[in-house]
Amino acid sequence: MFSAACERNKGPILEVLRRRLPARATVLELGSGTGQHAQHFCASIEGLSWQPTELAPHLEMLRLLLLQPPRPEGLLEPLALDVREQPWPAGPFEAVFSANTAHIMPWEAVLALLAGAAQVLSPEGLLLLYGPFSEGGVHSAASNAAFDAELRARDPSMGVRDAQVIQAEAVRVGLNLAEGVDLPANNRMLIFRNGVGMLER
Ligand SMILES: C[S@@+](CC[C@H](N)C(=O)[O-])C[C@H]1O[C@@H](n2cnc3c(N)ncnc32)[C@H](O)[C@@H]1O
Repeated sequence: MFSAACERNKGPILEVLRRRLPARATVLELGSGTGQHAQHFCASIEGLSWQPTELAPHLEMLRLLLLQPPRPEGLLEPLALDVREQPWPAGPFEAVFSANTAHIMPWEAVLALLAGAAQVLSPEGLLLLYGPFSEGGVHSAASNAAFDAELRARDPSMGVRDAQVIQAEAVRVGLNLAEGVDLPANNRMLIFRNGVGMLER
């Protein structure tokens, strides 16, 4: 019920969020897991309003974890959400954030995540996807290739996703890649903007 990876990546992710989120942003998180990101970001960014979500079977555990003090201001009660199912929380949100989920959920769920995010984001709102991503079919590190093989051996519906493939699917629903930020341990943050292409920014 504690993620060592979250402890390692929450600092670098926080710095990305600090620079990209507008003041007093309302953020929807998908697949909140242990809630460590939600806790840390709410405690670190003043005025943030953060809506954690999880698959229904994991919701009660997330709720209990988020009850642990200190409970930062702006941290909302977690909601059940499977990205493949409607309705999503209504929004509009200035940002949708999800960490280490795209390689765990099946590809059709990644597509549903993109479509759902586009629906609930405000105009010019940001979708921030954190995790390992390949680029044009090439892994950025041998460790990511090994992780991909391990995931696919465990469950063929899982696997490290390709940033260019996600980008192409995102465009179909009106989300345009604004930035790809390299982060420690061969992870990246893909940042999409709702309704505004890179050249128009
Ligand atoms: C590796 S964990 C990451 C958890 C957390 N975001 C983190 O960074 O530690 C992947 C998460 O994706 C969630 N997940 C998987 N399929 C999902 C779906 N269809 N809809 C929403 N969440 C999903 C899982 O329940 C799990 O919490």
